[in-house]
Parts: sequence; structure tokens; C-alpha cells
Amino acid sequence: MKSLSKKFREGGEVIGLVPTMGYFHEGHLSLMRKARGECERVVVSLFVNPLQFGPQEDYHLYPRDEDRDAKLAEKEGVDILFIPSVSEMYPEGYATFVEVKRLTEGLCGRFRPGHFQGVTTVVLKLFNIVKPHKVYFGMKDYQQLKVIERMTRDLDLDIEIIPCPTIREADGLAMSSRNSYLSTEERKAATVIYRSLLEAKETYRKGETKAKVLKEIVGGILRGEPLVRRIDYVEIVHPETLEPLEEVGEEGAILAVALYIGKARLIDNILLREEV
Ligand code: PAJ
Repeated sequence: MKSLSKKFREGGEVIGLVPTMGYFHEGHLSLMRKARGECERVVVSLFVNPLQFGPQEDYHLYPRDEDRDAKLAEKEGVDILFIPSVSEMYPEGYATFVEVKRLTEGLCGRFRPGHFQGVTTVVLKLFNIVKPHKVYFGMKDYQQLKVIERMTRDLDLDIEIIPCPTIREADGLAMSSRNSYLSTEERKAATVIYRSLLEAKETYRKGETKAKVLKEIVGGILRGEPLVRRIDYVEIVHPETLEPLEEVGEEGAILAVALYIGKARLIDNILLREEV
């Protein structure tokens, strides 16, 4: 991979990278399409990164289908599907970790200790291996996007981070590889997530700006679905600092949720801001 990237760069080609953990859905494919439209070379990395899973989390359960993924990536015109092994990425004696502070303390960071350190470590390694000019991240994982933007700025990386909109199923559920854990009944119940976010957004549009009121709307709707087995958080945060807000102000806010349905930990978010 390194020697290919070197060759691409020497030829003056713009390299786009889409980092993934595989089991592709339309969300992943939308990132690949955007990269394909903007870059001469598109690299997709597929690596289920053990470092970003907690000991009680779903690393061993995480869905995998490399053959299907390879076909889908090829159909999108991806030049290289880079699939390193765990022992190549973290050989014996591996001891270096990247940590972004502050932005990682709230939201998912509070419930998944070590998760973002695992993400930033693997993403910086991928940046160094692939040497991309542009890297594509989904807004579905909003906190991850902000943490990577911070790392890129703080460590003076000459890389452009490109945010991409959340792709949803027809009924609104945000696409996720983890949706494959859901039974038919759980899958139906999962529509409650986006419905609750839209309801709060509608209330905000009608003039309600108090975070407490908007969060209570979401919480109330989620608690009304018996298959929601645990809610990690319902939060309203500043779109850049990710600090909790009491009031949705001029700069708008991100309304974000994380919860469990069956075996799946699902996250979603929506932007609250006056449309320009
Ligand atoms: P993964 O969950 O496979 O997601 C890969 C990329 O696809 C991320 O940028 C994610 O935000 C984006 N994505 C996922 N679902 C999406 C959707 N419904 N709409 C739009 N984009 C979506 O995120 C990771 O992998 C890992 O943490 C990784 C960054 C690869 C580091 O290991």
C-alpha cells in the first residue's frame, strides 16, 4: 500500500481514502462515490479495528463479508481495497496510542472508554500508510468526525477531512453494519430513533430552544418503545465543541442519541439549526 501511494503521489494524483470496518451498506458506498467524484485514486480501507472495541463489546460478533465488500467496492470504481491484518497493524511490541482530549470525554466517549483512542490511533496509522489528500467520514458518527478533524488540525496533517451526510433506510433508520444484529421485530422498533429526533426537530422549528424540553421529547418517545432496552444518552451539544447546551443558540446544536435494541448499540443524530 505504501509503495502504491508513493507512486500515485509521484504521478501527481489526488488520493482519496474512505476508512471502514467493512460489511458495506449505502452509507459506505455514498462515501466511496463522493471520493470517486473528487479524486484520481480512491482507496478504501477495511479493517475491523480491535483497539476501538471494549472488552465486553462486539468485536468477535462484528459482521464480516470480504467477498461481497470487494464486489461492491469494485462496482463503485474503487481503485484499491486495502485489508490489513491485525498482526500487520499491531505487531508484537506495539505501544503507541493517539489521544484527543476533551472532545472524547462526552457522548459515546463516556460510555465507551478507550473507544476514541482506538479510532484515532488506527486512523492516524491509515493516514500514514495511504498518504491521502482527502479523507471521507460520515456524519452518522458525528463525534468521530469531530475528533478526527481535531486530530488532523492538532497534528498538522496535510489532509482534508470531508464530512458526508447520513444515509438512511426508507423508514428513516440510519444505515449501520450493526443493524444486521436486529431481528425483524427489533428492526421495526428501531424506527423509533429517527422518529424521536424528527419530533424534537419539529418542536425546535416551532420555536422551542430549551435543551431540557427537546431532550425530554426524545426520551419520552424512546421510553415508549419496549424493545429499547437501555438508553446511554440523549444529548444536545454544541456542533463544534460538543459541550452540552442548555439552549439551542445561533450556532445551532447536535441532538444525539445512543441506545440498545437487542444486541445492537445504535447511534444517531440530527442538526438543529435555522435553515439558511
Ligand atoms: P464504519 O462503522 O465501517 O464506518 C465507516 C465510515 O462510514 C465512517 O466514516 C462512518 O461515519 C460512515 N458511515 C457509517 N454509516 C453511515 C451512514 N448511514 N451514512 C453515512 N455514512 C456512514 O467508523 C468506522 O467504521 C471506524 O470507526 C473507522 C473510522 C473505520 C476506524 O476504525
